[in-house]
Amino acid sequence: KSLDYLESYNFDVIDINAGCPSRRAIKAKEGGYLMKNLEQMKILIENAVKYSSKPVSLKIRTGFEKPLNIEEMANIINNSGIDFLTIHARTVKSKFYGDAIDLETVKLLKEKCLIPIVGNGDIKDYLGAKHFIDYTNVDALMIGRESMGNPEIFNQIHEYLKHGKEIPFKNDVDKMKNFIQLYEECIDEYLTGFSHPQGNKEIEFIELKRNAIWLTKNIENSTTIRRSLSKVKNLKLLKSMLKEITG
Ligand SMILES: Cc1cc2nc3c(=O)[nH]c(=O)nc-3n(C[C@H](O)[C@H](O)[C@H](O)COP(=O)(O)O)c2cc1C
Repeated sequence: KSLDYLESYNFDVIDINAGCPSRRAIKAKEGGYLMKNLEQMKILIENAVKYSSKPVSLKIRTGFEKPLNIEEMANIINNSGIDFLTIHARTVKSKFYGDAIDLETVKLLKEKCLIPIVGNGDIKDYLGAKHFIDYTNVDALMIGRESMGNPEIFNQIHEYLKHGKEIPFKNDVDKMKNFIQLYEECIDEYLTGFSHPQGNKEIEFIELKRNAIWLTKNIENSTTIRRSLSKVKNLKLLKSMLKEITG
């Protein structure tokens, strides 16, 4: 039923989330809960593959509370028909900060899986990215939090891995201005032809505000600027404040 509903939207891949550690998700037997009920996960992904017209991927953790059973997980993945797997290298129980990242489980699973694997978790710069790939041999990387405020991280990693070029993180008001422009375009593209239940203007405001706050990372007077931005109540005021900040 969910797939029938989704098919009317314009998207490229269905990603099944088996990693979300929120209490709500675990209680509803979704997200990270699936890591402790692999039979349910297996049925879910096999059905998604069977009924979806688009590629299906799965996002997992390295286990629920302790490292997963590599053979069992690899078996499910290899026989499911999914197109690729993303693995966040920590358990559901350790949420986003707890415990050291578990690259060993990622490496062992990568050895057994027949589909491309995307590695994820705590990659903060190009050196971290290189270490992740060298250790686990994954096919690709996913970067989450570190890209918030440093959208250039993807290029920094690419340049280092492909050409050995080191581009350290640097930020200033001009960069912030360029990225805000880019985000405005992205948000506009995302909302074009779409009627968001919260209202498109509200979504534009929320998205632009939070990205602008992240983009103040390391610029002069960033604490004061962040404080002012977080108090802004509507899109018009936000845009005029951003103009004032970036010139
Ligand atoms: C605020 C926030 C929201 C997230 N939402 C999702 C989500 O909707 N689906 C998903 O698969 N992962 C989600 N994640 C997890 C990230 O995709 C990623 O696995 C996690 O942040 C670890 O990567 P990182 O250390 O590079 O941030 C979210 C993470 C954060 C911090």
